[in-house]
Amino acid sequence: TKPPVRVAVTGAAGAIGYALIFRVASGQMLGADHPVILHLIEVPQVEANLKGVKMELDDCAFPTLKGVVCTSDLEVGFGDCEYAMLVGAKPRGPGMERSDLLKDNGKIFTGQGKALSAAAKPSCKVLVVGNPANTNALIAAHNSKNIPFENFTAMTRLDHNRALTQIAQKAKCDVEDIDKFCVWGNHSPTMYPDLSHATIKGTPAKQVINDESWIKNEFYPTVQKRGAAVIDARKASSAASAANGALEHIRDWALGTGGKWTSMGVVSDDTYGLQKGLIYSYPVTCANGVWTKVTGLPVDQHSHDMMQHTLNELVQERDMVKDML
Ligand code: NAI
Repeated sequence: TKPPVRVAVTGAAGAIGYALIFRVASGQMLGADHPVILHLIEVPQVEANLKGVKMELDDCAFPTLKGVVCTSDLEVGFGDCEYAMLVGAKPRGPGMERSDLLKDNGKIFTGQGKALSAAAKPSCKVLVVGNPANTNALIAAHNSKNIPFENFTAMTRLDHNRALTQIAQKAKCDVEDIDKFCVWGNHSPTMYPDLSHATIKGTPAKQVINDESWIKNEFYPTVQKRGAAVIDARKASSAASAANGALEHIRDWALGTGGKWTSMGVVSDDTYGLQKGLIYSYPVTCANGVWTKVTGLPVDQHSHDMMQHTLNELVQERDMVKDML
């Protein structure tokens, strides 16, 4: 058994937090041989609720859980953490403009970036779930001088997983038969769920599916607008599936993907006709605690257009928060 590792979760008393922390505590994220100390972080108004969450964690008697810290103080919360899962964010209120949401959340992620820099391990791996996740991650990365930019990532794993099931249902295969699928760009309806490289048991997925109209008219919108569809049906936003995506994002980053592709929002470069310095979702593989972009893929005109469209949205978002970078 390894020494315990400190895992911070912000928004820990929220819906995703509640679906996430018990699974992290039980060893499902880092493995049964890797105990954790959970750092639960909330805003001061909600901090007291964390006591109840801690009581429930105690009542699970997880062998992998070696301690629980509940706090609204960011430097205590991120103190010596090796993983930080930034779930808490300000939700979009009625009549609120996207630019206001970006700015309000920008302030949160400026402060969290600084606190991570001051208190977390310099090797801390950071995942931003709170929306707008890509741009929040960009702001946190810029404000965290002691932690490498590459360690700041945004979650598109939920979008990735949503797509895998749509593909598996259409192709009547198992989700694990699919490889080389990826989501490009922003965690927003502009994302590009890209089937052009995907394989099903080694055969090109497009050949197996053999239905271009389904791909463009059903698959893309189903994946891109899935969040809204869940809200309509459940009268609440995706929580358990978002928590699962967050857990799998960190699990794969820490423990590896065994050569398979997954999707992560990571710092962009100028390959594939993109621009440097945004947090953009790419196909990646992970090994030895490091993510690596899949390089050298052919990009056809359709993919190029889709990748530029979501890039443009991220450029606009960055421009709205320029003073925080
Ligand atoms: P929620 O409203 O149930 O919980 C959010 C919690 O965060 C609340 O308890 C709140 O007090 C806390 N919080 C707010 N600001 C904070 C701060 N500065 N520091 C610490 N805690 C803070 O919301 P839910 O459903 O858990 O969603 C959380 C976020 O995740 C939202 O921004 C949502 O849009 C986003 N999300 C992202 C997805 C993705 O795929 N990237 C998927 C689903 C949700």
